Amino acid sequence: MSIKSKTKRCLEVIEDRLGLAAWLGPIMRHPVPRATGWKYVFGSATLIAFVLQVVTGVILATAYVPSTSQAYSSLQFITHDAFLGNVLRGLHYFGAGAMVLLIGIHTIRVFLMGAYKFPREVNWLSGSILMVLTLGMAFTGQLLRWDQTALWSVVVGAEQAARVPWIGTAIAHFVMAGDTIGGATLSRFFALHVFILPAGLFLFIAIHLYLVVKHGISEPPVPGHPVDPKTYRKEYEELLRRDGVPFWPDAAWRDAIFGLLVVVVIAILAIVIGPPELGRIPDPTILNAYPRPDWYFLWYFSVLALSPHKLEPFIVVLGPTLFGLLLFVLPFAGSKGERAPSRRPWAVGSVIIVLIIMWTLWWEGKRAPWSPDFTAQPLSAAVVGTSTGPVAQGALLFHQKGCEYCHRIDGSGGRRGPDLSTVGERLTKVEMTIRILNGGFNMPGFATALKPGELDDIVAFLETRKGAVPRSVSNSETGALQKH
Ligand code: HEC
Repeated sequence: MSIKSKTKRCLEVIEDRLGLAAWLGPIMRHPVPRATGWKYVFGSATLIAFVLQVVTGVILATAYVPSTSQAYSSLQFITHDAFLGNVLRGLHYFGAGAMVLLIGIHTIRVFLMGAYKFPREVNWLSGSILMVLTLGMAFTGQLLRWDQTALWSVVVGAEQAARVPWIGTAIAHFVMAGDTIGGATLSRFFALHVFILPAGLFLFIAIHLYLVVKHGISEPPVPGHPVDPKTYRKEYEELLRRDGVPFWPDAAWRDAIFGLLVVVVIAILAIVIGPPELGRIPDPTILNAYPRPDWYFLWYFSVLALSPHKLEPFIVVLGPTLFGLLLFVLPFAGSKGERAPSRRPWAVGSVIIVLIIMWTLWWEGKRAPWSPDFTAQPLSAAVVGTSTGPVAQGALLFHQKGCEYCHRIDGSGGRRGPDLSTVGERLTKVEMTIRILNGGFNMPGFATALKPGELDDIVAFLETRKGAVPRSVSNSETGALQKH
């Protein structure tokens, strides 16, 4: 027997015992409408990104230690010492971003083309659950980094959960696995991230794919041709008979090429940019840590930072609840009627508005003017007006004690708190002292962090901050003065 016929015989035996080709063949060759195009590739690309996450995640899990004392150092080891560890973390990080982005685009595409309408309502519902699970993965994954950002994300999550009426405290307790964040929290997030949520993803991906094959891929919408549940199925079958092509290879080649492109882009980003630097080791006593979440949650961070303090509970609870409800109700409320975007201006308009809002919030989150500015440099002698005595000492402390992270003086410093350039006109010595000792809304109290002499110096410095400070000094002069 030649090698060729031996191989053939071998494959025949495998097929006879497993029946894989008999099972998968018809699925791969099921007919799809010919006119599907590049718009249809985002679902399969999300799946490919997920597979990449599973592979890289499993490898990461072989070296990661989910304990508060070792998580940070094991990630340091993976990043700096393990063979290709840095690239691996990069792949997992950018893969996560890609998955969130792709599932978002896929959802918007399905929504705009009305593909959630009859008979594909449950496709939409299972897809919505997949999106929630994906966001859950992104959220829990961020915590496993176990740095300041990680801690922040649980605090936000727990605070948000705690605001749910009646059962809030119980949920917060469940999220944190206790009343405070600690080792149990990390274990719980690890279990969610590597067992529970992935199990949910596998299950719902299976359901989703089964339904996609069962109902067929939606045909591109035709304006003036609304979905009527009574006739839709017959029309769809006729369309396939008239103008259907087998999924493999006639439509699948686009999925394959786009999926490959996604993997290549993720790999390039992982190699060229690399994973995010680990932030500081979490220390709940560090007051001036205002970490930012990963980019896909950045817009939500802005919502939290920008919403008025009193409205926050409503926005934070009602927003996601309404969004979830909308996802759930949509396929039932709109299962009939026009699918074409050109006939559904409300659908198109709402997507544009939501995207603009998210983009604006994202941009604000990136600038984060409400966050302290940790890069603030000490005030120059030109700004302070003197380089000796309590006032100069106070100016130095103003920088050293972190006041300048939040307060601006003559153009340098953060913007989280009020600009103090002219605070000497506004407040008396006593008022300033009280405020500094007690803090205020979004300002920590410094009663224990300052020695009495230091407090006096800072106040002495702040008292000099009046409109009369020579603000007309040009840059060159400032530079010259600084050198002296
Ligand atoms: C984490 C950010 C932050 C830090 C650090 C901080 N502040 Fe503040 N500060 C604020 C905020 C926010 C307010 C407004 C508080 C309010 O209105 O309740 C404020 C208010 C003040 C005020 C009153 C200003 C006014 O116009 O009413 C003074 C004075 C002040 N801070 C001084 C200081 C000094 C001195 C330090 C350092 C020892 C300091 N702050 C550190 C955020 C900060």
